[in-house]
Amino acid sequence: MNTVYDVKMLEFPQLGDDRGHLVVVEGCSEVPFEIRRIFYIYGSDPDVIRGRHANRRSEFCLINVCGTSKVKVIDVNGEENVFYLDRPHIGVYLPSMIWKDMYEFSPDSILLVLSNEYYDASEYIRDFDTFRSRAK
Ligand code: TYD
Repeated sequence: MNTVYDVKMLEFPQLGDDRGHLVVVEGCSEVPFEIRRIFYIYGSDPDVIRGRHANRRSEFCLINVCGTSKVKVIDVNGEENVFYLDRPHIGVYLPSMIWKDMYEFSPDSILLVLSNEYYDASEYIRDFDTFRSRAK
């Protein structure tokens, strides 16, 4: 079972020149999975908490391509960690079966999410006690 110690900050190379920055994220390279899905979250008020779920199969990489937010992760053992996303070339990798809350979105936050899976609502665990009951 994955733990918060399997959640990793990723720093992507900035291929900048005098025209500006360019960041490349390729599957199985900068992120440790094949990318099947992207979505992005914006327009969330600072007091909103999003996420509040774990995924049986999905892995994610979260990147604040604009603005800032925080990601709190909790594993089945109840261990926690918080990651601050504040630069467009920084991401956080979340393996499967990690509870996540995204919060403190800045007004200009655009949170880009890459995943290894197509959307399947049935692989989301949205009840925290059900998630914690997976602890062995
Ligand atoms: P939700 O999982 O609640 O978003 P968050 O993780 O940011 O809290 O998803 C919001 C809605 O969008 C919900 O009705 C499910 C739908 N959705 C999709 O259809 N496909 C997707 O890939 C995602 C992430 C959500």
